[in-house]
Amino acid sequence: MKILLLGSGAREHALARALARDPQTSELIVAPGNPGTSAIATNLNIDPSVPEEVVALATQMKADLVVVGPEAPLVAGVADAVRDAGIPCFGPGAEAARLEGSKAFAKEIMTAAGVPTAEAAVCTTEAELSAALDRFGAPYVVKEDGLAAGKGVVVTDERPVALAHGHACLTRGSGRVVVEDYLDGPEASVFCVCDGATVRPLVPAQDFKRLLNDDAGPNTGGMGAYSPLSWAPADLTEQVVREVAQPVVDEMARRGTSFIGLLYCGLALTSRGLRVVEFNVRFGDPETQAVLARLTSSLPELLHAAATGRLAEAPEPTWSEQSAVDVVIAAPGYPGTVTTGGTITGIEAAEELDDVHVLHAGTGTTERGELV
Ligand code: GLY
Repeated sequence: MKILLLGSGAREHALARALARDPQTSELIVAPGNPGTSAIATNLNIDPSVPEEVVALATQMKADLVVVGPEAPLVAGVADAVRDAGIPCFGPGAEAARLEGSKAFAKEIMTAAGVPTAEAAVCTTEAELSAALDRFGAPYVVKEDGLAAGKGVVVTDERPVALAHGHACLTRGSGRVVVEDYLDGPEASVFCVCDGATVRPLVPAQDFKRLLNDDAGPNTGGMGAYSPLSWAPADLTEQVVREVAQPVVDEMARRGTSFIGLLYCGLALTSRGLRVVEFNVRFGDPETQAVLARLTSSLPELLHAAATGRLAEAPEPTWSEQSAVDVVIAAPGYPGTVTTGGTITGIEAAEELDDVHVLHAGTGTTERGELV
């Protein structure tokens, strides 16, 4: 199978490893990729969010499958363009990608599908924002309506902080902000592979978004993750498929915008039961790095079956009993203004340790061949 994988982060490096190690993969191109993926695949420098560039490359390499890593190409309609060119694509079309691209749309779908989630108000004015903050009370949960690279959500006890974030959201993007009820209880991520009708869950994972130990500090794009979740109910994935993923996939199909790709169910296991915190329409980062480290069956076979509407016939994924954990090492200053260009050493030594591997994100190679 010839595969084109779009993206350049550690999530894509983990996807590339799982795709490249499978004997069914005959060729793997990562676009644009990173210095880590260049060691296991061919990197090609195109803009993954420009549909014409992706279709041209997929056609030229005679791709059997295109796998879209990040959300931006999906929201830009890359998956629609690839499918229109007759090439199987793992990733939802632009309309279905609104499940991640708009928090308000996700709430609308959840209401229509009867999916348990926090009560919410979609605000378009300062007055609505202020009234919603008073209605739900502290802790305040204020979410930017559009894409914000995991940084659009503020949870705070301070009303002025909640108001300031809400005000900032109203003055950019869609001009809408979502205020919702605070969900108590631990969070978990369950990824569901979907072909528009059938849903296959992957093993649950938990990620950590705050910068510092003990869940302190500012929100980031994610500092680490692990799987399995020994504390979670044994039937968590079955419950998520039954109460969340299948109803959403059915509702999307009913609207004529079938969901093909990865439905990321971000959940809170509250004292009142399972609730959806958010949907994403692509593999989670950094949970994917831990989840795929445990996958023992074929990733290309699974994703190709989803992209071609044959998931019901595909074998169930199988998993190692071992635990996996990933920890993000970030440049000084992250998640604010980072100091870039620092030399990175010690990767070979780390890779020599049993069951340890290093995934790249935001790295580069200097003219002298140094990793920075
Ligand atoms: N782990 C959070 C995300 O992928 O958005």
